[in-house]
Amino acid sequence: MAIRPIRLFGDPVLRAPCAPVGLVDDGVRALVRDLLDTVEPPGRAGVAAPQIGVGVRAFSYNIDGDIGYILNPVLVEVRGEAEPVGEGCLSVPGLWHDALRHPWARVEGVDLDGNPVVLEGEGLIAQALQHETDHLDGKLYLDRLTPEDRRVAMREIRESAWF
Ligand code: NI
Repeated sequence: MAIRPIRLFGDPVLRAPCAPVGLVDDGVRALVRDLLDTVEPPGRAGVAAPQIGVGVRAFSYNIDGDIGYILNPVLVEVRGEAEPVGEGCLSVPGLWHDALRHPWARVEGVDLDGNPVVLEGEGLIAQALQHETDHLDGKLYLDRLTPEDRRVAMREIRESAWF
């Protein structure tokens, strides 16, 4: 039960595909508590397990005051053409760029008791669902930029004090 430090761009844990959550034990329950604590501060929309150093398929979200989590999420459906939307990531602090995101998305997974969880919606919800499931595949929003914006972003990273 703690707000865990966020792993930053350059940490290999952010680039490794995550393993499925298997048997739910005390470790998994503690991970969920930490994900919920870590996503709670204002301005945070989502935290994926690898961002706190754990390479398993789980994320938490904090959207319009609604805080929750999902285990083994799968992006099962998107609707609409991908469009550029302003986006940032806690693991790439200080940067903000247009990422290509579908305007509607649906994710299915389970909770700690194995009950089905469905998250779906448009706008910020759709964006967060695509962003967080990407994290679990070792992808960052930087991978969803135009080549020109990506060059700018990489330069900004190199010039960042945290890098
Ligand atoms: Ni992120």
